[in-house]
Amino acid sequence: MLFELREVGVDRGGRAVLDSFGASVPDGSTAIVGPSGVGKSTLLRLLNRLADPDRGEIAYRGRPLTEYEPLALRREVALVPQLPALLEGTVESNLRYAAELAGEELDAEATLARAGLDPSFAARDVSRLSVGEQQRAMLARALAQRPRVLLLDEPTSALDHAARDRIEAALAELRREHEVSIVLVSHDPEQARRLGDQILEMPA
Ligand SMILES: Nc1ncnc2c1ncn2[C@@H]1O[C@H](COP(=O)(O)OP(=O)(O)O)[C@@H](O)[C@H]1O
Ligand SMILES: [Mg+2]
Repeated sequence: MLFELREVGVDRGGRAVLDSFGASVPDGSTAIVGPSGVGKSTLLRLLNRLADPDRGEIAYRGRPLTEYEPLALRREVALVPQLPALLEGTVESNLRYAAELAGEELDAEATLARAGLDPSFAARDVSRLSVGEQQRAMLARALAQRPRVLLLDEPTSALDHAARDRIEAALAELRREHEVSIVLVSHDPEQARRLGDQILEMPA
């Protein structure tokens, strides 16, 4: 099992956002769905230890998540946040930074291709990208770390259909060709069905 959550509780602002939450997330692709405010982003951030639960336990590949050193874990389990947040500079400098942090060699062209971007994007300044291009650059930056697991927080929520389709195609290929496991948060049940082998509904 990729992730196993038992009796997980998280308090925010004096109330429980997650309470006694349990779920099994297998290898492959899992879509987490549920209404806004239900705790989807909170849950996703637990999976690479950007936050730890207040109660309960999470296991990753059979070992308690707390046994993994957070920085090492985040190299293997990469999170793409809901809003693009690139560093100033070119797309390639962003990829290079991520690769170096993870101690990986960078093949910029191949990494861009895996995120559905053509090689000319390497030299593009991030301040001149559309939001859809920024989302794919964020995906490419996460892939530059060569993660085994990608956590995606509503990766297409700000995009038009054409840009959404390009991200979805890139994700399907990552899953198929590169055996990257995907845990995707979506508020769109149709997208969850398109991308998830398994759908995890969060109780409202
Ligand atoms: N740091 C925080 N302080 C107070 N409340 C928070 C904090 N982070 C999240 N919340 C609240 O927790 C709930 C779940 O948030 P979130 O996980 O972002 O939901 P979702 O991603 O499903 O929309 C929301 O009601 C949100 O306002
Ligand atoms: Mg959210």
